[in-house]
Amino acid sequence: MSDIQAVQARLVDNINAASDLDTLEALRVAALGKAGSITALLKTLGGMSPEERQAQGPRIHALRESVTTAIASRKAALDAAALDVKLAAEAIDMTLPAAETPRGSVHPVSQVMDELAEIFADMGFAVATGPEIEDDWHNFTALNIPETHPARAMHDTFYFPEVGEGATQRMLLRTHTSPVQIRTMMSEAPPIRIIAPGRVYRSDSDATHTPMFHQVEGLVIDRGIHMGHLKWTLETFLKAYFERDDIVLRLRPSYFPFTEPSAEVDVGYRQEKGRRIVGGHGDVDGHAWMELLGSGMVNRRVIANCGLDPDEWQGFAFGVGVDRLAMLKYGMDDLRAFFDGDLRWLAHYGFGALSVPTLSGGISA
Ligand code: PHE
Repeated sequence: MSDIQAVQARLVDNINAASDLDTLEALRVAALGKAGSITALLKTLGGMSPEERQAQGPRIHALRESVTTAIASRKAALDAAALDVKLAAEAIDMTLPAAETPRGSVHPVSQVMDELAEIFADMGFAVATGPEIEDDWHNFTALNIPETHPARAMHDTFYFPEVGEGATQRMLLRTHTSPVQIRTMMSEAPPIRIIAPGRVYRSDSDATHTPMFHQVEGLVIDRGIHMGHLKWTLETFLKAYFERDDIVLRLRPSYFPFTEPSAEVDVGYRQEKGRRIVGGHGDVDGHAWMELLGSGMVNRRVIANCGLDPDEWQGFAFGVGVDRLAMLKYGMDDLRAFFDGDLRWLAHYGFGALSVPTLSGGISA
């Protein structure tokens, strides 16, 4: 009995005095290993009489228990000390000046959106925004796209899970920036002149489609607005954006539920060294037409859905892909790279924080 207590006291002292993990491991093996002292004691239980075993068993087991606990707590202490040493050695002085200059750059999409805001501000357009998580009514119904309309299927919509009782409509990720038309007409009195740049979402993915992309919507509501205003506005915008005067547009009859009539707008371009260079008449030799954006006169039903009198107020709207505009101007050929976050791509195509586009300083800065 006193033997066991003496063994325990000696072992625990040694364990607590162990100055490193190797010493501690050696002590563990010497006590609890196959040929360890406590293991040997446990083996003696087999040769004892039942009475002896009843007396000694609990003591030997208690010895093993206390030695195991002592080893575990010493190990935790040594681990913590080792970590402290490691952390102290690896400490970084955050107040030191950076070894490299910061590498951040303005993403081409942000840059192009700034360019658009600058160009349209000069024509008297304000910038409007709307939520990316939209409801069915603003994204579809108010835009004259009823429940059964094939355009709903065309949009490959990301819907949120069906909501519970009491909720009136299903939420979705907006498939275009056109719901901002609705929100603006409902919250502002005409005349209205806005652009609405932002993210849109469709369940689509390949070299030219990503599930998230960017559009800019344009909307003008006033008295006596006609297609001539639309064409002039687009021409003026594209001349400023591409910084050349030979922008030629072709309006092709098309269909959107929210515009009537609708026009697909093509722009003349030519191919040069594998790149599309916007400019020139698409029917001239070496040139062709490229589809650039959707547009039209705002459908009377959409104007009425927003509580305005379509006999008094008319307007035009257009929608264009911002990523596409960026690719055409700055020469990237794979849309997916826009959203990879690859620093090399960003360093190559990104813009300096100080190259703010201005009409006087040059739009592409
Ligand atoms: N919302 C349409 C689309 O995403 C584009 C568009 C906008 C067409 C405004 C006409 C008028 O394809």
